[in-house]
Amino acid sequence: ASRKTVRGNKNTDELDAKNFLNEYNSTAEVVWNAYTEASWKYNTEINEANKQLEKNLEMSAHTLKYGQKARQYDTTDFQDGSVKRIIKKLSDIERAALSTPQLEEYNTLLSNMETKYSVAQVCRDNGMCHPLDPDLQKIMAESRDYDELLFAWKGWRDAAGKVLRQDYKRYVELANTAAKLNGHSDNGAFWRSLYETPTFEEDLEALWKELEPLYQNVHAYVRRALYKKYGSKHINLKGPIPAHLLGNMWAQTWSGIMDLAMPYPDATQVDATPAMVSQGWNAVRMFKESDNFFTSLGLLPMPQEFWEKSMLEKPSNGRQVVCHASAWDFYNRKDFRIKQCTVVTMDDLITAHHEMGHVQYFLQYKDQPVSFRDGANPGFHEAIGDVLALSVSTPKHLQSIGLLDKVENNHGDHDDINFLMSMALDKIAFLPFGYLMDQWRWKVFDGRIPSTEYNKEWWNLRMKYQGLCPPVTRTEDDFDPGAKFHIPANVPYVRYFVSFIIQFQFHKALCDAAKHVGPLHTCDIYKSKEAGKLLGDVMKLGFSKPWPEAMAMITGQPKMSAQPLMEYFQPLIEWLEKENNKNNDTRGWPEYDWKPNVLESTSNTLMHPRTLKLP
Ligand SMILES: *[C@@H]1O[C@H](CO)[C@@H](O)[C@H](O)[C@H]1NC(C)=O
Ligand SMILES: [Zn+2]
Repeated sequence: ASRKTVRGNKNTDELDAKNFLNEYNSTAEVVWNAYTEASWKYNTEINEANKQLEKNLEMSAHTLKYGQKARQYDTTDFQDGSVKRIIKKLSDIERAALSTPQLEEYNTLLSNMETKYSVAQVCRDNGMCHPLDPDLQKIMAESRDYDELLFAWKGWRDAAGKVLRQDYKRYVELANTAAKLNGHSDNGAFWRSLYETPTFEEDLEALWKELEPLYQNVHAYVRRALYKKYGSKHINLKGPIPAHLLGNMWAQTWSGIMDLAMPYPDATQVDATPAMVSQGWNAVRMFKESDNFFTSLGLLPMPQEFWEKSMLEKPSNGRQVVCHASAWDFYNRKDFRIKQCTVVTMDDLITAHHEMGHVQYFLQYKDQPVSFRDGANPGFHEAIGDVLALSVSTPKHLQSIGLLDKVENNHGDHDDINFLMSMALDKIAFLPFGYLMDQWRWKVFDGRIPSTEYNKEWWNLRMKYQGLCPPVTRTEDDFDPGAKFHIPANVPYVRYFVSFIIQFQFHKALCDAAKHVGPLHTCDIYKSKEAGKLLGDVMKLGFSKPWPEAMAMITGQPKMSAQPLMEYFQPLIEWLEKENNKNNDTRGWPEYDWKPNVLESTSNTLMHPRTLKLP
């Protein structure tokens, strides 16, 4: 050991710190690998024997041991910025700060919540039961029967949400305890600290305010389309939209109802699903297609081990798995996997690119110290695959891979508007949802939402931001936030809001690098090594620099901006404004207190008065 220099009680020897970090890095790789293997095993075969919670404890013991050592350094005069940055990161030991009994309780709670969510099913009177993935998702996307949709929507919340309410309350207490032991005011403050941006909340609010008029135009247009389909009994043209009619279990993206919202039914269709099905595509084909796009940019191919060890389909033998798609870094620099219950649809082709984006990031930063094997911020990690998917989704690209009939372009603007509408149903519709998920959790963690008002405040936010109302009465016996994966799975969500903004900034910068000419929404960066290099260089940085530096590397400036998104959608923005004016449609939902017509028969509980108020 080197000679120690000491200031106060703290160690100021930088060489000693470097040796300490080397030891940390090599031991962390081993412990994190063992934890990730155990976690993978459980996620791909849910049973008691595979729970292996001792691997969580081993990881926490390691975090605690090295966190305590890290806290003994005074890094003020260190020369190497990376050493300072890693020591600071190690000093936040997250849940490892809990006492052993608390830690065991917390791990068990988290495991139980995710498992309850993942094995939940909705059963019919005749005994037939449906898992979320693929049955209920398919019903939500494809059924146009108001009551069938209601059955799936309400059934899922009864099966997966309600049952988590008590667990969640205790989870909030323990998460806050750990956050406070690490010097944060609450767990929401800890989550926000990962962005290293003092004005984070104000910045997001400003972005949302910039985009809100566009969202309200999409909302008004879709509400009219639903009015044509379901009638005045179910849709009020001045009110919120019942949450089960948007083609998705959480109404987070709306492309499932593109058939109802198609601006020009006679112009080019933009759904590749029928061609994928008729050409016999399967999961592997979808991921190979994505791999091909990455390598066309000069980025890295998936290693052999990826193809051997990933789970790209739901097991057909009835084995229980966590179907929610995810990408895995095993921290040994060679093992990277995806777990996805892939269905052959265009939606899942986009998801395949999304998950591949995560793995590409893992591959690019694999030689960084483990502490830097992370996104520049969590939103960056979510954005990479989506950026590629923006190119893949263009009619021109889909046609080039044989998934769209010849794009005639003889319908002029109509083709463009159809395409942009399909993109808006995903990218614009998502924004308020991506924002409100953590608005809710931040308020839960800091106490502004008490546990007695979890559901009421959830629906207040759903109303305020999304303009949605529940199709049937909700009470505090329900726990609707719990019916969305990231709540029981303890995954922060505002990263997706950030991603949906910055992916358009990245797209624009990459299209410039690829020397694209023409409107932004027609850009396809396929085969552009220049675009690939920009993205690759930023991914190689991992978390080693604050994200504004990474942002500046790609876009030439350090801030988040909604402008590239607005530029991308400009033709649609103008079209929507005209279309909604033509119909004299209200933007927003002034009649927020309106309630959709409820079936008389189903059950008495549906008839209770609602307790919702607009905040
Ligand atoms: C139960 O009802 C569903 C929907 O009406 C139907 O598709 C299914 O075949 C029925 N199953 C049985 C076992 O009767
Ligand atoms: Zn992701």
